[in-house]
Amino acid sequence: MSLSPPDVPLLEVRSLRVEFDAAGGFLRRRRFVAVDELSFSLCAGETLGLVGESGSGKSTLARALLRLVPAAAGEVRWRGENLFDLGRRAMREHRRAMQMVFQDALASLDPRMTIGEILAEPLRLFEPRVAWRERCLRIERMIERVGLPRSTSNRYPHELSGGQCQRVAIGRAMMSGPELLICDESVSSLDVSIQGQIVNLLMDLQAQSGMAMLFISHNLAVVRHLSRRVLVMYGGRLVETAAREALFGAPLHPYTRDLLDAVPSIGAVRSSVRMAVGEAAPGPSQTGCAYRWRCGRAAPICEAERPRLENFAADHQVACHRPAVLGYSAAMNAESKP
Ligand SMILES: Nc1ncnc2c1ncn2[C@@H]1O[C@H](COP(=O)(O)OP(=O)(O)OP(=O)(O)O)[C@@H](O)[C@H]1O
Ligand code: SF4
Ligand SMILES: [Mg+2]
Repeated sequence: MSLSPPDVPLLEVRSLRVEFDAAGGFLRRRRFVAVDELSFSLCAGETLGLVGESGSGKSTLARALLRLVPAAAGEVRWRGENLFDLGRRAMREHRRAMQMVFQDALASLDPRMTIGEILAEPLRLFEPRVAWRERCLRIERMIERVGLPRSTSNRYPHELSGGQCQRVAIGRAMMSGPELLICDESVSSLDVSIQGQIVNLLMDLQAQSGMAMLFISHNLAVVRHLSRRVLVMYGGRLVETAAREALFGAPLHPYTRDLLDAVPSIGAVRSSVRMAVGEAAPGPSQTGCAYRWRCGRAAPICEAERPRLENFAADHQVACHRPAVLGYSAAMNAESKP
C-alpha cells in the first residue's frame, strides 16, 4: 500500500456529475443527469454504506469512481490525486487498488474459463512477472480464503451455485490486493442464508486486509450491520450522510425516514426483503427539492429553492429546508443488529 499523510482521505469525491444522452430526438440532443453535485470522502479501512431506491444513481456513481463511465464535472481524488487527470497507464495501476464486485456474479464470470483461470487474470494483468508456480499457489490460497473447496479451481462458473460464484467474484477482486472494494448489490440476488455468509466473508476479508469498502445495497439491515457511515441518495444527489447510529437512530431527511419506515418489520428485514419504495426516482430536478412531490413536510420554499447538503451536526449532513429534527421511533430503531 502506498503511504500518504494520515489526514488525506483514501478517496475524495468533489461535486461529481454524470450525464447520459436522453431520448430526445436527433436534432434536440438532451442530457439526463444521473449523478449531480455529489461530494463525500472515504478513509482507509472504512466501510461506507450507500442506499437509495432504484434509479437514484448508486451504480452510476460507483462506475464513475472507476472511470467506467465518464464524468461531466467534478473530481475523484485517490490519496489526493485526481483520477480524471490520469492517463490510461496510471489509471490501470489505480484499478489494481480499486476493485468492484457486482450483483450478478455468474454474468460477471467468463463462462469459457475455469475458476483457476479466472483468478489468474488479475495476476496476468497486474503482476505479469509472477512465476507460474507462485501464481498457482496464490490462486490456491485465494480459493481457500473465500471458503471454496480446492477442487473448484478446475470447474466452470455454470457448475457452481450463486453463492459460490459470488465467492469467486470476490476472490478475483481480492487477487490484486485492493485498498477499496466497491460492492454493488453484491448479496442482493442470493438466498437469505447465503447473503449472511457472503457478508461475513466480506467482513473477514476486510478485517484481514484493512481495505476500505463502499457497500451499495437496498438492504438496510445489511448496510447497518456493515457500515460505519451511511450515504443516502435520491434523484442523483446525496440527501443525507451520517454515522450509522445517527442515520438509523435520528434520521433528518424526510426521504431517509420514509425509507426506514418502509421496512415492514424487523422480521422482514431479517428475511432480507428487497426494498421497494414507490416508483423509480426521477432525475435531479432543476429547481426546488426533487423529493417535494412525495414529501409530507414540503413547503413553498421547497419548490423555489434547491436544498444544499449542509452540516447539521458533527458528521451529519442533510439536504433539506425542513429537516425532521424531532422524534423518530421506527421499528428499525429498536434493534441493534440485523
Ligand atoms: N448507460 C446509461 N445510459 C443511459 N442512462 C443510464 C445509463 N446507466 C444508467 N442510466 C440511468 O441513470 C439513472 C441511474 O441509474 P443507476 O443504475 O445508477 O441507478 P441505481 O441507483 O444503481 O439503481 P438500482 O438500485 O436499480 O441498481 C437511471 O435513470 C438509469 O436509467
Ligand atoms: S426540502 Fe422540503 S420537500 Fe425536500 S425533503 Fe426537505 S421538507 Fe421535503
Ligand atoms: Mg444499481
